[in-house]
Amino acid sequence: MRIKLNHNLEQLEISGIRLFNSQTTAYDDVIKLTIGEPKFATPEPIKDALKASLDKNRTFYPSFAGSDTLKKEIIAYEKRINQVDYAMDEILITQGATGAIFAALGSILNPGDEVILFQPTYVAYQPAVEFYHGKPVFVDTTPNQFQLDYEAIKKAITPKTKAMIVNSPNNPTGVIYNEDSLNIIKRVLDEHDLFVISDDVYAQLVYDNATFLNQDSDYKDKIILTQSLSKPYAMTGWRIGYLCAHKDIIKSAHKVQQYAAAGIPLFIQDAAEVALNTNVDSMKVFYKQNRDDVVKLLQEHHVPFVYPQGAFYIFINISAKGLDSWTFATQLLHEKHVAVIPGVVFSQHSDHYIRISLAASNQECIEGVTRLIHFLQGQA
Ligand SMILES: Cc1ncc(COP(=O)(O)O)c(C=O)c1O
Repeated sequence: MRIKLNHNLEQLEISGIRLFNSQTTAYDDVIKLTIGEPKFATPEPIKDALKASLDKNRTFYPSFAGSDTLKKEIIAYEKRINQVDYAMDEILITQGATGAIFAALGSILNPGDEVILFQPTYVAYQPAVEFYHGKPVFVDTTPNQFQLDYEAIKKAITPKTKAMIVNSPNNPTGVIYNEDSLNIIKRVLDEHDLFVISDDVYAQLVYDNATFLNQDSDYKDKIILTQSLSKPYAMTGWRIGYLCAHKDIIKSAHKVQQYAAAGIPLFIQDAAEVALNTNVDSMKVFYKQNRDDVVKLLQEHHVPFVYPQGAFYIFINISAKGLDSWTFATQLLHEKHVAVIPGVVFSQHSDHYIRISLAASNQECIEGVTRLIHFLQGQA
């Protein structure tokens, strides 16, 4: 029998990150600086809350939109951290930010609608847009030190543009949008009828002062916030996040959630309430130390890189080696047993970069980057 599949899905590619990461099993002693995943175990109070919830038999179907008590915690959290007021019907609890992005795009996109993505870009945006038969339109931020450029965005906008997705602190660069970039987004929102999906999964991992788009309430109705507990609370495997947006968008996103996931387990939601009130500063201090140590090492050896103000990545310029980023990463893996992500995965304009994750141990970061520098500078 010939199995006829959904053509749209056949076109979607497996993430280059996962693809490269799967090669890292070639050796036992590989220093893995690939996946953006905290090494920490989830803090005990969060795990205790899950156990207590299970003991109370909170094991039944949840409401599709999320539990009221978690939504209230999110409202309090967003007020405390970002000074923004959300109402209960402006929130949807999702399977991580991935679920939030998917539900958000599903709620606004019609086939053929265009979504502006800023390159280098997190790998899951393009497939999600294409899943809904939307069209990704890429704007390269490389020439502008990874900040936004008004003219470049203007050129990309057409009558079909429905949204832009912004991500600050950024994966893969760690760059945080400066005041100019934020003003450019606001100007574009003033001039055009479109949404901005603000993927703020690294907003808690900021090492220098920063302001964020969603802190400006004047734009609240045009901002679709996607948020996650994965990174700040070391909860990647729990699969919980949330979406904040205009109530009509939430109502529509609710349908995606209802038919694709039928809600998020109640015991996970109960634990998430505790997470939002857990102090995770020590993890941030740990990532900052890794950043500072790696930055120092790269500077000492005159290796160019993008200075990360947030998240836990560093984007390193590998031009000196004269190899494309996939070949560079492959050779680095085989010769030095260090695994990094080729920059081309994030954009064809980033083929002279590699991304390393600073979520590894301090020793792994230092040893991995030392070997990388040796490889880059042609030392044995
Ligand atoms: C920018 C960005 N957005 C979203 C996600 C997905 O996060 P979650 O685990 O909440 O689905 C990631 C994960 O790496 C990410 O880097």
